Amino acid sequence: MRQLNSSIPRAAFMAAMLVATACTPFGSGKVPAGELVAGPTVSAPRGMVVSASAIASAVGRDVLASGGNAVDAAIATGFALAVTYPVAGNIGGGGFMVIRLPDGRATTIDFREMAPQAATPTMFLDSAGNYSATIHHDSYRSVGVPGTVAGFELAHRKYGNAKWSRLVDPAVRLAGSGFAVTPGLAQSLAGAIDGSFKAYPASIAAYSRSGRPYAEGDTLRQPDLARALTRVRDDGRDGFYTGTTARLIAEDMRRNGGLITEADLARYEAKERAPITGTYRGYEVISMPPPSSGGIALVEMLNILEGFPLQVNGHDSPRYVHLVTEAMRRAFVDRARYLGDPEFTTAPVEKLTSKAYAAAQRRTIFPGRASISMPTDVAQRVESDQTTHYSVVDADGMAVSVTYTLENGYGLGAVVPGGGFLLNNELGDFNGKPGVTDTTGLIGTDANLARPGKRMLSSMTPTIVTQQGKLFAVVGSPGGRTIINTVLQVILNQVEFNMGIREAVDAKRFHHQWLPDRLFIEQNGLPQGTIDTLKLAGYPITWIGVQGTAHSIRVDPQTGARQGAADTRDRDAGAAGY
Ligand code: DON
Repeated sequence: MRQLNSSIPRAAFMAAMLVATACTPFGSGKVPAGELVAGPTVSAPRGMVVSASAIASAVGRDVLASGGNAVDAAIATGFALAVTYPVAGNIGGGGFMVIRLPDGRATTIDFREMAPQAATPTMFLDSAGNYSATIHHDSYRSVGVPGTVAGFELAHRKYGNAKWSRLVDPAVRLAGSGFAVTPGLAQSLAGAIDGSFKAYPASIAAYSRSGRPYAEGDTLRQPDLARALTRVRDDGRDGFYTGTTARLIAEDMRRNGGLITEADLARYEAKERAPITGTYRGYEVISMPPPSSGGIALVEMLNILEGFPLQVNGHDSPRYVHLVTEAMRRAFVDRARYLGDPEFTTAPVEKLTSKAYAAAQRRTIFPGRASISMPTDVAQRVESDQTTHYSVVDADGMAVSVTYTLENGYGLGAVVPGGGFLLNNELGDFNGKPGVTDTTGLIGTDANLARPGKRMLSSMTPTIVTQQGKLFAVVGSPGGRTIINTVLQVILNQVEFNMGIREAVDAKRFHHQWLPDRLFIEQNGLPQGTIDTLKLAGYPITWIGVQGTAHSIRVDPQTGARQGAADTRDRDAGAAGY
């Protein structure tokens, strides 16, 4: 990376830039940026759940109100989202949970998908040895062994309170008896019926009326999903990873060239891992370790920014955007260089999250001038934004931050016949072809190549923030690589600019990920004067629809009230408290 020299051509990055703008706000029931309205902040004295589906938030809130703790509510909300928010809610995908106990101890649950035993670094090449984006992202080979059920089971066994069946039952009922289709869901399913579901009759059967889209208010029943959830309710982890569901998945794989076997499913394990922690101006940040890159990159950026007086020129100032962007650029280089599944790759975590390293990084930032990203030995692919994040706080102050995903919206687009749930296409997060790195987005470094039993690198950043040992906020977002930067900005908005949780979530966002070397900004996101100055400083700018959906909670330090802010970028989102 070096300072911008205006004679250096940027044309090499243009193709990648176009990929990044292919965000489809309507495809996932999202509200286009131009129509964003400030949402309400829901305040409640004891407990709060905020998620992409108001129905699922209410399920979690009811668990809290009936004596469950925040982990119980997170599990119930997660299962409900698999029914009411199928674009990302899932039992066929995976994700991460960050937990802070009332006594201040914190931990994380890694339920990221795993590569099957037959995976190899060259598994995304066609018979001629050429990299195939279709195999990598849009085939049964791209499906990872799902982690969600095992992750929820582990979280419940170690930290839950309520009966397991109480947590799965609401989802069983929502799937079996049905629920009224919400506006965002109607819009999103209509898109998928014409899109990724087309190739899969079981998906069309599950999510349409004989091929015709559901309208808002119609009742959507998912009987196969209800049966799959019933097996999970009655038999726990085994109800998914062995028996009928495992057989249905393995048969589907065999029919379609997928690699996952019954043995892969039986072998899957969720893992408890120590969180990544950092400090920022007296606040403590608790976030997800590898195989997510989120926690490390977030702490690295915050450490870099702590050394600058960010407030001086204001939230929308060119200087603020410049400094934050340069911190983003540097964290994303390190992400690409070092990070992968910790059981296969050793990363210099202590160094990357240290204040000394950040100080050295700060010295490479030139005032008023964009640095330039060089595709040296790494380059990256830009992802879409269909994942989902939700936040939970209970009456005792236990906090849970969950981000989970199928990777693309509706994952592969394929419902398991007889199983009623969608398969992920998460293996697309592995690098595509060993040794081949180019500016179109391929990356070939070893840290994140597919291998048997390995977990693919993620950007999901479920995060909890405390202040002087007291719970301050629960944050996170979907959005592929933009996730880390969305979480960064929701935190900075509160800590640097004293915004309340609603304002912090509503504020427009921007994103830089090193390569492509562009600054992506939400529509109408910054004043024209700032844009003009940023352009003069050397930032090529691309406008995007919406960046992430950060369903967040803040705890009022005076009253202890839980303030839930559902991000209005998600059409069906809602906060529910008691
Ligand atoms: O784990 C990750 O970082 C991605 N699979 C998350 C995907 C996401 O946010 C939506 N994008 N496709």
